[in-house]
Amino acid sequence: MSWQLSVDFGTTYTVAAVSTGDGPPEVLEIDGYNRMPSLVMLHPEGRLLAGRAAVNEAGRYPERVERTPKRYVGVTEHLPLGGEMVPVTDAVAAVLERVVVEARRRHNGTFPERLALTHPARWTEGPLECLKAAAVAAGLPAAYMVPEPVAAALAYTEVHLSHGDHVAVYDLGGGTFDTAVLRRERQGFVVAAAPGGNPHLGGEVFDERLLNLLGRQLAEVDGARWEALSAPPDRRWARAHADFLTQVRTAKEQLSDRVDATLYVSAYDRDLLVTREEFESLIRVDLAGSVAELLRTVRSAGRAPEDLAAVYLTGGSSRIPLAAGLVHEHLRQMPATRGDPKSVVALGAIRALTPARADTPPPPASSVNGTVHSGPRPVVLPPMPNFLVPAIISTILCCVPTGVVAIVHAAQVRGKQSAGDIAGAQDSLKKAKAWTWASVGLGVLVALFYLVAMLSDPYQY
Ligand SMILES: Nc1ncnc2c1ncn2[C@@H]1O[C@H](COP(=O)(O)OP(=O)(O)OP(=O)(O)O)[C@@H](O)[C@H]1O
Ligand SMILES: [Mg+2]
Repeated sequence: MSWQLSVDFGTTYTVAAVSTGDGPPEVLEIDGYNRMPSLVMLHPEGRLLAGRAAVNEAGRYPERVERTPKRYVGVTEHLPLGGEMVPVTDAVAAVLERVVVEARRRHNGTFPERLALTHPARWTEGPLECLKAAAVAAGLPAAYMVPEPVAAALAYTEVHLSHGDHVAVYDLGGGTFDTAVLRRERQGFVVAAAPGGNPHLGGEVFDERLLNLLGRQLAEVDGARWEALSAPPDRRWARAHADFLTQVRTAKEQLSDRVDATLYVSAYDRDLLVTREEFESLIRVDLAGSVAELLRTVRSAGRAPEDLAAVYLTGGSSRIPLAAGLVHEHLRQMPATRGDPKSVVALGAIRALTPARADTPPPPASSVNGTVHSGPRPVVLPPMPNFLVPAIISTILCCVPTGVVAIVHAAQVRGKQSAGDIAGAQDSLKKAKAWTWASVGLGVLVALFYLVAMLSDPYQY
């Protein structure tokens, strides 16, 4: 029987879902868990390990480990592991391979017929190509690329929405924060405006803030020891550092359900207590900024918070109660979430591949601008404003050289948008506006100059 696979390759965790068309899609269990660490390790024998196999070896070879390989995607070609430079595509392929091995085991060794891969909404062509290449290297079919907030909305909005309703998605993960406003259409969703977010905000930042707070306490107890723990001089301390980080992250996650948490710092043989109140004061500004960004995205879609039919929370860090509290306070909407806000991304992505009715097979995959689209739930961006008309008018009426530059940038906006390069399209739009205003400015200056010259010597003109 044919089957379909979706993979949400996250900064810290990767989740996959499988579907055979019989019954609802399911989260794939890997090594007994429904989420797999995205960690990769280059074994001294040359093998790339990923997930829990890598975690198990990581203690022995901390210098050969990268906990967040997604951060390198589209940023550099290689990442350093134990003194060697490993292609980023290979590191990502190792993560995807681990998923595929487990998924194929459940399906008599067959490969999935279709694949959906999720990605941060603001990724441009470079990182998207890297992710697609990694899937090919892992032996997977051409991927249907689904922005993470869109995937989350597909999971949430199946039942309760009417055609034309708008929803907002607040996706706070391990490494990135994404926002999006979507409009429900008969056949799927339309992203109502350019997505927003912050590529540097997520659970890793919160871990660091908590680590620094606890670090100050530990430094007071024994400064030299803290120096070794925070900047490990050797393998033993690197191991202690990794243990401490795990303890900090676990304590942070516990604080979503409890008012305090205790962690054991083996390097000090000491227990530390941290309260939810202390933790919240460390991250309040970050979270307030994330809600402001959500509001900005809503407004840039031409909506007010009260126009939204729902606000969906997704990503592991959205479990922090203060995040939901601030969304509620500022959008005056009770946000919807699930027990496991992480797996909704993979479950939603697979819906983009799954026919609405079991007797309606999805259309064959086709390639548009390098992105493979398939399935009955189109996710399309409306054309962005491109400022072409003002650019042309300013060329004719004001200044030809600067006007032409404005026209060139304006003409690039929609091409970049349809290639999925939202950031590039926004950049071209910004430049088109700047050059148009430069044309207008120069035109006005020349006209003023001409007027002054004419008034001062009317007979010459
Ligand atoms: N109960 C919880 N309370 C607070 N934070 C949590 C909780 N559970 C998980 N997290 C945090 O969520 C983050 C992982 O979230 P998620 O798996 O959605 O991110 P990701 O997909 O790996 O990253 P990204 O989407 O940014 O690429 C981690 O920082 C983790 O510590
Ligand atoms: Mg994620």
